[in-house]
Amino acid sequence: MADLTPELIGKKLAKTIFLEDGRALLRAGVVLTHSYIQELRNRGYTYIYVENELAPDVVVEDAINEETRVRTSKMLKKVVTQSLNNKQMNFEPVEQAIDLIIEELQGNSSTVYNLSTIRNVDNYTYEHSVNVAVLSIILGSAVHMPYRDLKIMGTGAILHDLGKAFIPEVITKPARLTPEEIEVMKTHTWLGFNTLRNSSEISLISAHVALQHHEKLDGSGYPRGLRGNEILDHAKVVAVGDIYDAVSTDRVYRPRLHPNEVSELMMGMGGTHLEIDLVQRLFRHVAIYPTGSILLLDTGEIGVVVEQNRDVKDPTIRVVTDSQQQLIPPYQFRLASDPRTVKRILNDYPPRVVEQIRRRGDST
Ligand SMILES: [Fe+2]
Repeated sequence: MADLTPELIGKKLAKTIFLEDGRALLRAGVVLTHSYIQELRNRGYTYIYVENELAPDVVVEDAINEETRVRTSKMLKKVVTQSLNNKQMNFEPVEQAIDLIIEELQGNSSTVYNLSTIRNVDNYTYEHSVNVAVLSIILGSAVHMPYRDLKIMGTGAILHDLGKAFIPEVITKPARLTPEEIEVMKTHTWLGFNTLRNSSEISLISAHVALQHHEKLDGSGYPRGLRGNEILDHAKVVAVGDIYDAVSTDRVYRPRLHPNEVSELMMGMGGTHLEIDLVQRLFRHVAIYPTGSILLLDTGEIGVVVEQNRDVKDPTIRVVTDSQQQLIPPYQFRLASDPRTVKRILNDYPPRVVEQIRRRGDST
């Protein structure tokens, strides 16, 4: 994953970028030019997947199909717009989408998922909602929630922020909110609940997920300040998915966190804000060092994550430089059975390494 800057000119796109209608905007393998990068920026993208020059063979398997993800967020936008115009809300496509997500996740043989996904800031609310549904279903499955509950919870998860559609002035504000605006923002829980509650097609539990997804275990959440077991299990799961996705995304007022940082942050919220058992379960199934990530090791060496294994703390890492960051013939090791540790995840290779890759490319 790389920030969308002119430095990417000449690199190959690693993943197809789909438009909202499901058509491909740019296909994987295309060489990035100045005008492609400009076009993507104009369309609201801030980062993309580019081929890793030192690990071109590494394939990143997504939890769900990118096309399903994009089509689902488009469907959601349509359903939400309809409900705004006060027409009859048609929930059938929402339920079908949740079924498809459950089916794709259950058909996926991985036990550890890579969840980083290409984001378009203009569609933040819809793409966020789809991701929260995916994360909630992964977590619900991990705690052995029966299919019926997964579906009810998934429906609540994908519609958890429905109420935000009624208060666009605070939701689209490209800066931090004032205290008054925060109070308006908090009403999205009731606005969503009231819309869903009046629909006979949707379970009342799904409506309560929209109402309760900002409640915290210690009672400091909103809108009602519920505590512990007063909060529905379905809403507790969705709260975990909501926070994971929110902090993993670039926002106007702060950059995204890497999954290892997200895991640290969320473990700290366990017990007071979130159910600790749920946070721990999530990070048994969501990669903290996603496949394709570039890592700085404590020795100064640079590595690339090539594969996930059963334990999220044990990915296979390909070492590509020595501790002086000089390119070396690559070799691989498993993180858990090695004394080396990860210092941090990098957005790209350090300039020194980029320069060596360029020189090597010129000489071949
Ligand atoms: Fe929310």
